[in-house]
Amino acid sequence: MRDGQGLEVANADANAIAALDFLCEEWLVFGKRFDRFMAAVDTEETCALLPVMAANLVLSMNSQEGRALGARYMVRAKAMPGAGAREKAWIEATDAWLAGDGARSLAIHEKLVAEWPRDLLAGKLGQLHAFNQGDAEALLRIGELLLAANEDNHYVRGMYAFGLEECNRIDEAEAHARKAIEMQRKDPWAHHALAHCLEARGRLVEGVAFLESVGDTWEDCNSFMYTHNWWHLALFLIDLDRLDEALALFDKRVWGVWKEFSEDQINAISLLARLELRGVDVGERWADVASYLGQRLHDHFVPFLDLQYLYALARAGRQSALTEMLASLEDRAESAKPFEREAWADCAVPAAHGLAAHARGDHAEAARLLGQAMPHLQPIGGSIAQRALFGAIRLDSLIKSGWNDAAVKILQADERERPSVPSTKRALADLYRKLGRAEQAMTADYQAEQLARKYLAVRGVAA
Ligand SMILES: [Fe+2]
Repeated sequence: MRDGQGLEVANADANAIAALDFLCEEWLVFGKRFDRFMAAVDTEETCALLPVMAANLVLSMNSQEGRALGARYMVRAKAMPGAGAREKAWIEATDAWLAGDGARSLAIHEKLVAEWPRDLLAGKLGQLHAFNQGDAEALLRIGELLLAANEDNHYVRGMYAFGLEECNRIDEAEAHARKAIEMQRKDPWAHHALAHCLEARGRLVEGVAFLESVGDTWEDCNSFMYTHNWWHLALFLIDLDRLDEALALFDKRVWGVWKEFSEDQINAISLLARLELRGVDVGERWADVASYLGQRLHDHFVPFLDLQYLYALARAGRQSALTEMLASLEDRAESAKPFEREAWADCAVPAAHGLAAHARGDHAEAARLLGQAMPHLQPIGGSIAQRALFGAIRLDSLIKSGWNDAAVKILQADERERPSVPSTKRALADLYRKLGRAEQAMTADYQAEQLARKYLAVRGVAA
């Protein structure tokens, strides 16, 4: 039989096809009705693709339980005979993921998409592996292959747009994201791609207005997409110096949906960190977030995730958990395969020690270690906007340890790239004052004020 995309599915009856079509739509729209698919998997006896997809779903949870459950689904999948070539490639890619070899999974997914470009989930999972390895080019290549065979599909256009954005092709990314949204207003991943474009260009006021205008469509999204799109709105607010509004968004939308889930956790952690860097007192929130991280000390699914868990443990003062996680991370780096060494050994280990140093107020040490890690940041995974957290913590360390010249250079480069960000202007003004450059400080302050006023004018808020 063939699925809704016209792909042959081995050993499938109408129920199996319906379950697969349902899963594809639900995954691409970032829904949360996956229990329906899982119920179909539980009663399935012949179609191997169902348990394979279930394994991918639970593996995408980034948890030890997900890994154990994924292994069980794969045993079931392999016991179902007669898998075709596409099913075999899926099995191989999923086995590689189970074994912790994301690079191999990515390579297989790229081949899958090249051969079956109508297999949208092969593309979705391939892009997830690319994302977890910071491989922007692969993210884009997969998007290109999918788009060529699915021109009329808005989800695919959003997936392509995100690949373009991560490759810094912002204008093209924006055009494709807007086209996707024009085709279908409810496409949270296309909203997300557009948010990245506006963020990259420093179009903050527009970013707030856009996300608020489509936020109603995320109500039935899963916790990752829901909390992550609101997280993007909070980033715009922070750059606009609307810190109280960003903190309120943390409490209302970003933290509290599914506190056990890795994606919710890192959205919360990086938002709290960014708020603190701007001088916000976040109260007991670190303790709350860290209380959900006790199981994560030996996770090591993606370095980008580990580093954020670790920073939260450090900020919450969980010293013994922090020490255990640092040691575990060093062991992970020791056993890294050659192609993983840059991410784990060159970046994650010095960055982890640097983050711990920043959290305890040892800023000179933090600046030194984070500076060492920075050139190797991309392969740890995550998006450009997410990885910017580490640069922001390093910048804070430089400023607090008195490396003012280095800090000015970084902020000036930020200002050149995104000249419309009030918080960058304010940070520059503070530094100029420290350096005795009063006139430049006044200019930067004035510009920050003007930019902030634009937001107030658009929102109709009194200054
Ligand atoms: Fe994002």
